[in-house]
Formats: sequence, structure tokens, C-alpha cells
Amino acid sequence: MKNMIEMRDIVKMFGPSCANDHISLSVKKGEIISLLGENGAGKTTLMNVLFGLCRRDSGSIAIDGVEMPVEYSPQTAIEHGIAMVHQHLKLVETFTVAQNVILGAETMVSRRLFRREKCERAVGALCSRYGMDIDPKSVVSALPLGAKQRVEILKALYRGCKVLILDEPTTVLTPQETDALFDLLRSFQAAGMTIIIITHKLHEVMAISSRVLVLRQGKAAAIFNTNETTQAELAATMIGKTLVKAQVSAQLHSHDCPPSVELRGLSTAAAGDACPLRDVNLNLYAGRIVGVAGVDGNGQTALVEVLAGVKKLSGGSIQIGAKEIKKNTSGTMRQEGIQIIPEDRHRQGLVLAFSVYENIMLGYRKDRRFVKDGVFRKAKARQFVSQLSNTFDIRPRDTGILVKRMSGGNQQKVVLARELSSPDVKIVVVSQPTRGLDAGAIQSVHSTLLKLREEGKTILLISSDLDEIKALSDEIAILYNGSIAVQRAAQGFADEAIGLYMGGGKEV
Ligand SMILES: Nc1ncnc2c1ncn2[C@@H]1O[C@H](COP(=O)(O)OP(=O)(O)OP(=O)(O)O)[C@@H](O)[C@H]1O
Ligand SMILES: [Mg+2]
Repeated sequence: MKNMIEMRDIVKMFGPSCANDHISLSVKKGEIISLLGENGAGKTTLMNVLFGLCRRDSGSIAIDGVEMPVEYSPQTAIEHGIAMVHQHLKLVETFTVAQNVILGAETMVSRRLFRREKCERAVGALCSRYGMDIDPKSVVSALPLGAKQRVEILKALYRGCKVLILDEPTTVLTPQETDALFDLLRSFQAAGMTIIIITHKLHEVMAISSRVLVLRQGKAAAIFNTNETTQAELAATMIGKTLVKAQVSAQLHSHDCPPSVELRGLSTAAAGDACPLRDVNLNLYAGRIVGVAGVDGNGQTALVEVLAGVKKLSGGSIQIGAKEIKKNTSGTMRQEGIQIIPEDRHRQGLVLAFSVYENIMLGYRKDRRFVKDGVFRKAKARQFVSQLSNTFDIRPRDTGILVKRMSGGNQQKVVLARELSSPDVKIVVVSQPTRGLDAGAIQSVHSTLLKLREEGKTILLISSDLDEIKALSDEIAILYNGSIAVQRAAQGFADEAIGLYMGGGKEV
């Protein structure tokens, strides 16, 4: 069968560093292929080169037999049938689903289609053709991340793409949503579409693709047929050695201490399609990790926003030590020592045009360690930041590099390094802390959380990754439809029971 994509000997330099070092990749029509590699291995760059977002330094590219010039734009790539769903979604938050889908493809529709209803109908038809459950009239900002991603896929379909590139599409999805996405991809494949998917999850590589290209430090390390390899072989190829899993088993603390934080009957007003909180009761303890499991979209976002003080409470109160908070502002919450690590770090946690140093120091402007007699002690700050860069394995180590020039996973490490290293923190709220991180980075984040727990901090972990919840939590609480369905010791809480509560059921 003819190759749909033919990339030969691609080289892409960023200054002196080589992000793609003579990489070749051919993909057959109708094939699903995965790209695998550590954070910073060059996966996104290779796909940006294919999509015309990055200009290659050398090598050649043919799409469906047509040789592409050295310089071409995404517009040209789209005309040749390529579509890309980016690692960080690029939607207009204030527009509706339909508006986002049509945006940029206006020349493809007659002027009359601009009329709201017609454009909504066209997008609605596309949704039902592929069995996608999404309302074209919804405003994008109100949608959970999983649904936003489907909007990006709709954009690609609307433009009649032949090759769909997905950059870490499953990091924002629950296991159920991932299954649904994979079913969708298989139906695209059956319709003749070619798919390239980037993922860090080995079982996903095995489940969805027939071949996998493994990148290591900018080079193609190997290419495998998935039915002839194992997850262990893939992991070893990816990092160049065998990964030894750190033992992160949480020891159960006795229940005799009173909670350090009590959430009592928290409610928020309904806004858009996002799930509000409905009478949330939850206890947190110093020196313990309480993990909140649940299918995304069941109030996780509202819970984090309430604790960050950016979403107002319509009922209930938050007891922190002796203080009862009914009016939660971001100021009061911070004063009480709450540190938040948001789910959407790219949007909420970073200034992309700043360097690593600047992004980390943003959190420490008033820290007494760095200010003496009103004078900022730059050398000390620099030393502190490079220490964090080492501890969190932020690559590259150069802390002067602008964050927008870093790989997605390394950008996340910057936020984690800043938020988890403040001495004033008493309560840490982390939402999806390891999304998009490679196996090594996940281990280092997990050990950081366990270290904070040892130090006696109160930790609330919100994650849709059940394995993560189980590996770290002393207690597990399950969020369903805006309420905590149950909170109990993690030990002995069986998977089936957890699954039952996550789906809105109850044990009998
Ligand atoms: N615009 C840029 N300017 C300078 N360097 C860049 C730029 N974009 C990427 N890089 C560098 O190129 C290398 C490869 O980055 P890339 O984003 O392709 O990695 P990745 O494999 O997608 O990683 P991740 O899993 O973290 O998303 C990294 O070292 C990164 O710092
Ligand atoms: Mg990437």
C-alpha cells in the first residue's frame, strides 16, 4: 500500500540543540501509528514539522505522494489533508462549539452558513455522524477538557482531514473517555483515515496502534510492530535502561487526630455546563493524602476553584484550624496556607514568555530568603532555582530558557517545582499532577508528594488516574455529580467498589 506520510532524515535544530536528529518515518494509508518518548524527546517537534508549524533544517517530506517544499504553512498542510490536535488545546474559549469548528474554515462554507443556526446544524450533523455527544451551542469555556478535545477533533473532521495527528490526546481523558476516543479513532481508520498518536502510556500504544516509533533524545531509537514487542521493551528503549519502580505505598495513619481542614456542605451556583458543587463534605488531615477519585466533569474543577478562592461559595463553609471561612477569596485562602496546582497548568500556571527562572521566582517575590534590607539577592535566587531544576529534572537545565521553548512535560515540571517548594505551604491541593509526564517524571512528582506528607502537610490529590490515587492516598473520596459519595481508608477499598461509586452506584 502507498505511504500516506513519508518523512526522510528530518533534522530540526533549536539553536545549538537538536530536537530531531535525522528521523525518518513512513506511515501507510489507514494505519494508526504511535510516537513514544520521554519528555523533551522531540515528538511534538517532529509533528510540528509535518504540520508545517516548524521549518525543518534538512530532510524531505511527502504527503500522499506530493513532495512538500522546505517551507510550508499549516494552511498548506491542511489543504493536503493533515490535521493536528495539539498537546495544549487552541480553542477560543468565549466562542461556542460550532463557532470554534467553523473558525478559520470560513472560505469553505457559503456566507449563509455563517448564520448561527445553519452552522450549528452542520456541526451537529458531524457530531451525530460519528456518535460524538456534544452540543454545538455550548460555550467552550464551560466544557470539561475531554469535551474541548472533541471540539478540536471536530475541527479536523470538518476540514475533511485524511491524516489526523493527536499530541497526547488521552492525558486529559478518563479511562472511559479514552476507550470512547479509541473507538472513534478506529471508526476513522475504518473510513480510511491515517492516524499518528503521541502518548506516554504504554498500554495505549499496545491497544490502539499497529506500529510505534520510539524517540530518545531527538533520535529515532527504534520502530516496533506492537504485536511483536512488550511494554517492558518499549519502556527500556525509551529511556535507554530499565526503569525500577519506586515503592510508593502509603502507610495508613491512625484516625485519632482531628481534621486540619473540614469542608462542610459546600455548594456553588450552577454556571454554564460545568458541574457545580452540591453539599460537599470532606475532611483533610495533616500528614495525610486524601485522594479524590471520580470521572472528570463531576465537580473537580469547581472544587479546586473554591479552594483557590476564585469560585464563590453559595453555601457551606471551610474550616481551617480555628478559622471558619464562608467568604472564600483568593487572598484569604492563600493566607491560610493553601497552595493550588491547577489542572490546566499551561493556561493558569505559567507565563510562557518568561524564563524558567522568572516563572519560578514569581512565587517567591516576597520570600525573606531572597530579600535582605530591601535588596533582592539575585545570586541566592539563581542558586535556588537551579537547585529546583535539578530536583525536578527540568530539561534543559538552563534556567534562562523561555518556557514557551520547552517541551510540554518540562513546562509542567516548572509549575510543580514552584508550587511544591514553598516553605509557607500548609495545605497542598494538586489537580492531575502527572498528566503529560513521562514515567520518570511521574515518579519524582510522587516522591515529592510523599515527602510533603512526611513533613506533615495536608494534601488533597485530585486525579482521574485511579492507579495514582491508589498509590498515594491514605484515604479515598469519590466525587460524583458534585457531591462526595463516600470517603474512607484507601486500604481495603476494592476497585469494584470504587468503580461503583464513580459511576453513581452504591454498595449494598
Ligand atoms: N520553540 C522552541 N524553541 C527552542 N527549543 C524548543 C522549542 N520547542 C521545543 N524545543 C526543544 O526541543 C526539544 C524537544 O521538544 P518537544 O516539545 O518536541 O518534546 P516532546 O517529546 O514533545 O516532549 P513532551 O513529552 O514533554 O511533550 C526539547 O528539548 C525542547 O526544549
Ligand atoms: Mg510534546
